[in-house]
Amino acid sequence: MLGEKVIDGRQIASKIRSRLKAEVAELKEKGICPGLAVVIVGDDPASRVYVNMKKKACAEIGIYSEEYTLPQETTQQELLDLVKRLNGKEDIHGILVQLPLPGHLDEEEVIDAIAVRKDVDAFHPVNVGKIMIGNYDFLPCTPAGVMELIKETGIEITGKECVVVGRSNIVGKPQSMLLLQQHGTVTVCHSRTKNLKEVCKRADILVVAVGRAQMITGDMIKPGAVVIDVGMNRLENKKLVGDVDFDSAAAVAGAITPVPGGVGPMTIAMLMKNTVKAAQLQA
Ligand code: GUN
Repeated sequence: MLGEKVIDGRQIASKIRSRLKAEVAELKEKGICPGLAVVIVGDDPASRVYVNMKKKACAEIGIYSEEYTLPQETTQQELLDLVKRLNGKEDIHGILVQLPLPGHLDEEEVIDAIAVRKDVDAFHPVNVGKIMIGNYDFLPCTPAGVMELIKETGIEITGKECVVVGRSNIVGKPQSMLLLQQHGTVTVCHSRTKNLKEVCKRADILVVAVGRAQMITGDMIKPGAVVIDVGMNRLENKKLVGDVDFDSAAAVAGAITPVPGGVGPMTIAMLMKNTVKAAQLQA
């Protein structure tokens, strides 16, 4: 019973990677080998894990990847110089600078320096603007992965009450735009929202990306709703949990993503998709 409503992000991501692998094989026959450069500054353990997963996915699909690991004390100029060098490197079609950067570095300036056509995270202001207009080459990986998971449930988005909890540039804001483009009626909640429980309870589709462990509980969810949990929080006992309290939410939801094994694998699959697309566009 419970198994039926749990959305298996690992399996869905694996299907997408298989499709991409076939696509990359075709591109290689035409002499195109998609290439991704991943830049990591410092030694944040979570970032290290994410970067390793990205490299592994590249290897599986046949995407060429380069990793640039820079020391914590890297200067802004050194990082900008690397980005500019990668902008001009012909075997690299996508550039990803793993965030967050150490505090002394200016993330905005670094993102602005990435060539728009190589911005596979879709964080550059030009790509963000294109998403707003609905005329884009790349979608940001996590919101794009969430849309794929919603699609898998078979729910029609048109006309539905969609509630996004969180307004970050990486997830909440672009997520609300994508749901709007699919004709959802979208509400964006944040730390100053009044009556969060009542607003969440209206949602047919609830996407949560706030970074607070298990804050959305079953009593905040409409029976039968689709619940997508973008959170990744480490409890004191080392357990990895989402922003949704899974057990109480699963008892009421119609479909729900687990953490881990929900959104996470999809984010990486969408990064691979963007890298393949970048290579096609640059060919
Ligand atoms: N840090 C957390 N999520 C992301 C992401 O999607 N891309 C990058 N570059 N850094 C991140």
